[in-house]
Amino acid sequence: MKFFLDTANLNEIREAASLGIADGVTTNPSLIAKEGNVDFRQHIASICEIVSGPVSAEVTSEDTEGMVREGRDYSKIAANVVIKCPLTRNGLKATHQLSSEGTKVNVTFCFSAAQAILAAKAGASFISPFLGRLDDIGENGLHLLGDIVEIYRNYEWETEVLAASLRNPIHVIEAARIGADIATMPLKVIDQLFNHPLTDKGQAQFLADWRKSGRK
Ligand code: E4P
Repeated sequence: MKFFLDTANLNEIREAASLGIADGVTTNPSLIAKEGNVDFRQHIASICEIVSGPVSAEVTSEDTEGMVREGRDYSKIAANVVIKCPLTRNGLKATHQLSSEGTKVNVTFCFSAAQAILAAKAGASFISPFLGRLDDIGENGLHLLGDIVEIYRNYEWETEVLAASLRNPIHVIEAARIGADIATMPLKVIDQLFNHPLTDKGQAQFLADWRKSGRK
């Protein structure tokens, strides 16, 4: 399972890259807004300099023509830019157009297996089911992820399943168990993956014993 970083913060991306676990990056308009008044194209270019894998840049037009125009423009920023389109009717038309031109599209805001089927048929390179947001409303995001993986495997569709809106280590572990191709997560969740009290306790004890024996 590949790890994408779900942030537009350059320091966070550098930190994940230094760990060797940033296979790609997903951004969205809210994440870009958190970075302040940055130039969007320049900011995506900076991310692409840190990470060589897919970097999602999301369109903000609501009509198909506008999405296609943005997609064509953003895909010129760097070879690893992937265009992110929403799972709306217009978004899937744009997905179909852009993918037929050879541009990779990440279809975002997927909340049902039916929507995931449509995205694959439209030519999406990635489908992003939002697990955490489904959990937030009392549904089960992991069940949706399992359904999508099963359906895509039935037909050997090439669309990669990108588990998104991950909020905790259980989401990551279960996404791996289910067989998601990619998990995108904030640095906070990556940090949580490290944590185990026995690791901290054991390491502290080893070092204390080492020093007690007179070594430096
Ligand atoms: C994915 O591409 C999205 O940017 C992201 O996972 C959304 O996560 P959230 O529901 O925590 O905002």
